Amino acid sequence: MIVYDREIPDRDGRAIERLFDATFGPGHFAKTAERVREYSYSLPEVTRVGLLNGRVIAVCRVWPIFIGDTPVLFYGPVAVEPKYQGGKVGRSVTEASLQAGSDAGHKFACLIGAPAYFGRMGFEQIPAGSVVFPGPQDESRILLRRLATAEDTPFPEGAVTSPRDAMRAIATQKAYLQRARQGG
Ligand SMILES: CC(C)(COP(=O)(O)OP(=O)(O)OC[C@H]1O[C@@H](n2cnc3c(N)ncnc32)[C@H](O)[C@@H]1OP(=O)(O)O)[C@@H](O)C(=O)NCCC(=O)NCCS
Repeated sequence: MIVYDREIPDRDGRAIERLFDATFGPGHFAKTAERVREYSYSLPEVTRVGLLNGRVIAVCRVWPIFIGDTPVLFYGPVAVEPKYQGGKVGRSVTEASLQAGSDAGHKFACLIGAPAYFGRMGFEQIPAGSVVFPGPQDESRILLRRLATAEDTPFPEGAVTSPRDAMRAIATQKAYLQRARQGG
């Protein structure tokens, strides 16, 4: 049975990096979404991993950003070990982290991904130009979803920027990634 749990950095960090390499390949650091992550830091308490017999086979990482003046959670990457793809693990790990974001009181989730896939999890396409990422981005793939807020709350609009405490947090994140990568 797959258990969905919060990320525990010292337990999961290395396995998550390996999973990203296996699913996205080495090019994934060039993407716009990856640049967002460079100036943010992940939230292990909202991130969810799928554990099979204690082994990480899936992850949905979560990062704080701002869209305009509104704090938003940025979701992704979502990755599932190839052997387990197509069995709703991707959906389950994403929904578990959406629930965690909602439970923690966050109002909005943003994600760059396939509308057909993430639409099933409540994400919606937004008007072109309403959210501007730093870097080229196919606008049809920018998706938003409400978390702990009323259904009719308007989606935030504006430029995507880093969380206000990013400089301090980035140092922590870098040290964490370095540890994860050096781990083997
Ligand atoms: C994308 C990914 C996370 C989906 O996880 P999964 O466990 O395989 O998917 P699920 O079992 O939850 O859902 C499978 C369904 O989603 C569909 N689907 C999967 N990826 C899709 C995509 N990019 N676009 C549209 N539909 C997609 C499948 O066709 C399948 O449809 P069906 O239910 O009608 O048969 C996984 O395949 C993966 O790790 N891929 C590589 C990394 C990646 O591209 N991540 C997404 C961007 S962050």
